[in-house]
Amino acid sequence: MSNIGSYEEKYKSFNWKDSEKELEYGKDGMYNIGYYCSDRICEKGFGQKIAMIWEGFTGEVKKYTYDDIRIYSNCFAKFLQDIGVNPGDRICVFMDKIPELYISFLGVLKMGGIVQPLFSAFGEEALFTRLDNAKTKAIFTTRKHLGKVRRIRKTLPEMTKIIVLDAGEKPLENDELSFDMAKMPKVDKFDIFKASPETPSVLHYTSGTTGTPKGALHVHSSIISQYITAKWVLDIRPDDIYWCTADPGWVTGTSYGIIGAWANGVTQTVLDAGFNVSHWYDFIDKYKVTVWYSAPTAIRMLMKEGDAPVKAHNLSSLRHLISVGEPLNAEAVVWSEKVFGKPFLDSYWQTETGSIMISNFPGMKVKPGSMGKAVPGITAIVVDPKTYEPITKPGLVGLVALKPGWPSMFRTYWQNKATYDGKFKNGWYICGDRSSIDAEGYFWFVGRDDDVINTAGHLVGPFEIESALLEHEAVAESAAVGKPDPINMEVVKAFIALKPGFEKSSDLEMSIMNFIRKKLSPLAMPQEIEFVASLPKTRSGKIMRRLLRAQEWGEEIGDISTLEND
Ligand code: PRX
Repeated sequence: MSNIGSYEEKYKSFNWKDSEKELEYGKDGMYNIGYYCSDRICEKGFGQKIAMIWEGFTGEVKKYTYDDIRIYSNCFAKFLQDIGVNPGDRICVFMDKIPELYISFLGVLKMGGIVQPLFSAFGEEALFTRLDNAKTKAIFTTRKHLGKVRRIRKTLPEMTKIIVLDAGEKPLENDELSFDMAKMPKVDKFDIFKASPETPSVLHYTSGTTGTPKGALHVHSSIISQYITAKWVLDIRPDDIYWCTADPGWVTGTSYGIIGAWANGVTQTVLDAGFNVSHWYDFIDKYKVTVWYSAPTAIRMLMKEGDAPVKAHNLSSLRHLISVGEPLNAEAVVWSEKVFGKPFLDSYWQTETGSIMISNFPGMKVKPGSMGKAVPGITAIVVDPKTYEPITKPGLVGLVALKPGWPSMFRTYWQNKATYDGKFKNGWYICGDRSSIDAEGYFWFVGRDDDVINTAGHLVGPFEIESALLEHEAVAESAAVGKPDPINMEVVKAFIALKPGFEKSSDLEMSIMNFIRKKLSPLAMPQEIEFVASLPKTRSGKIMRRLLRAQEWGEEIGDISTLEND
């Protein structure tokens, strides 16, 4: 029997207060996520239970109990206090998937800081934009990524604390600080910051069509949503071995790779190594993973290698498989059922929603290709793109809209209330995705409603790519759009119109690629450049990316008069 039991019944009877009670949220005036993910589990008698089994790319293994997580996160929290970091300050965690990433995340929360996770593959320009916007005060990093931090820190006057986790014997520069988790004096008791349910907790950056990336700000009570969805959708149980493959630089890696997992007291595994089919299967086999939360691109890559590598491993421990981040094609669902004996169940949500909103649940009929139904506690519909009125006819495509009010809803975009306000229409939060709903309440994803490119489950804003391109001396105009790709769903393609005096050539293409590589994260790099004489524009001069995109996807362009008037 699954944790949720009957989805229909739970949906009908759901009340957020019951989830709060189950988590004992607010016990003795405590609302801090850091407490609920470590101290609470220890107080319940599970201090010696393994919280994290970590494996590095060299094969090195480290294990941490809940008591270790509690004590080490206290060390981080005390250290931050001692160096003068205050509650409400933004503290960035910028490193690979090493144990310190997961533990410092809780440490920041325990002292009342706002934790800002950033993907370690970000280049210095991507890093700068996000640190500058957040006016970040402190950053935890490692030698591997320190160079990027050093190169931009002069332009970030607020960022006064640079903390290196693996400084070793080699001297640091200027005022950089060293923090070696394993060598720090153990802090058994720490006075955890008395956050309120509405105290800001996590600041995750996400890309939109226009402007620089926006920081979605979450609060401590988000844990209520993350706890209950990890329990009901991921079906996490006390004796599970859970593997969330997402990097905590992105929201799945924090909401379900840290908070939802540890609030449920589960043993989780972390693999800090690049994707490799047989390595992944070895990992499941070795640790007897039971619950696996992954992404469609990874599943498609596994599928491409076929059934033989699956058969070469013993994967019988797997009990429950879930996917998120991009469309999960029906073939992948059918294939996973064939080879693993159970299908990957799709789940849908966003950085902004903080937790899963629409999903397939254990025990519910699976319709391959559908995202499933609204999570208990969530009212999800589709609305007309012009009037924002609910669409009630099954099968008609509209915009996915959610009734605000669940605990993990973002509270604003950092320093950008206007954009935040613009996301609400007629009392609905508009996700920016197109979908239909069938007669049984299943959502069928159609596509995004903006120009954001979703490549391998990562959102890339065209604006960032185009801005980088425009800085090259030869580029007059540029447009970045998604083009179809069998594995990554879409990849970035850039259209470029050259300035007079420049001729298209493979040397020029190489020069442009090398130029932007330094500025963009590897995910945002165009896979193809096409030189054009000019770019299609609206009458007001806006580049019509949608037209270029439609060409790439072989879609009907339809009536462009509306586009022209944009
Ligand atoms: O377009 C939708 C797509 O990813 C967007 C959210 O991206 P992000 O904020 O980076 O969070 C990703 C992880 C929660 C959505 O607006 N998306 C997410 N899940 C799905 C999806 N598209 C199709 N199917 C999904 N299951």
